[in-house]
Amino acid sequence: MPQIEVFPDSDALANHAATVFQDLANAAITKSNRFAVTLSGGSTPKKMYEKLVHANLDWSRIHFFWVDERCVPPDHPDSNYRMAADALLDQIDIPSSSIHRIMGELSLNDAARDYENELRLFFFNRLPVFDLILLGLGTDGHTASLFPGSTALKEKEHWAMGVRHDTPPPPLVDRVTLTFPVLNAGKNITFLVSGRDKANIVACGFGDPKNPLQIPVQEIISTARNIRWLLDKDSAGDLSA
Ligand code: 6PG
Repeated sequence: MPQIEVFPDSDALANHAATVFQDLANAAITKSNRFAVTLSGGSTPKKMYEKLVHANLDWSRIHFFWVDERCVPPDHPDSNYRMAADALLDQIDIPSSSIHRIMGELSLNDAARDYENELRLFFFNRLPVFDLILLGLGTDGHTASLFPGSTALKEKEHWAMGVRHDTPPPPLVDRVTLTFPVLNAGKNITFLVSGRDKANIVACGFGDPKNPLQIPVQEIISTARNIRWLLDKDSAGDLSA
């Protein structure tokens, strides 16, 4: 059963999310001398990433991946890599070899194949098992760039896929996304959701009917291990007790 924690506001949410990140990172580094984490994009995680700048962590042991990326260059305002670089990665002393970004500047399928090759190298050709997967939630029920009705929802072979994206939610740019086999294999999955506009989809995500093709986040809720939902009061507003 997913663990749900509700915080008074987005700042308290970000503070706690940063603490969760640090605790999981230190535990993984102690146990296996490395911590492999996938970052989410969008706007919600930015505050958390900014708070991590001051974390007491051995960055040389931490490897950053992404759950998805917009097909834009890394310096583009819509780039998930750029958001994380501005908020965190450019402020810490981390080897460039530990930053495994999705090459959004490549063509859609080349970027997906390149990222999957990067995953195969890092995980020795075995299904990637990340120590922590950070996810957001769109008001349409998407997570990562797994959108309602997308063929990528049924992908079982590829670990990363290119998805065309020309209808809302914005930005209307093609995406590369991790697929459910990888997302659901994560040792720890942490959702960060904030804002009154997410209250309905959070409640739908946990509610019935279960229809993961139309509410993709339900695929994560129903199958993944160790799920932690970090919500602010507004986004938890429609959840029953
Ligand atoms: C992206 C994200 C996406 C995001 C949700 C929520 O590339 O946009 O990976 O899945 O997490 O759309 O975005 P907000 O945090 O901006 O609401």
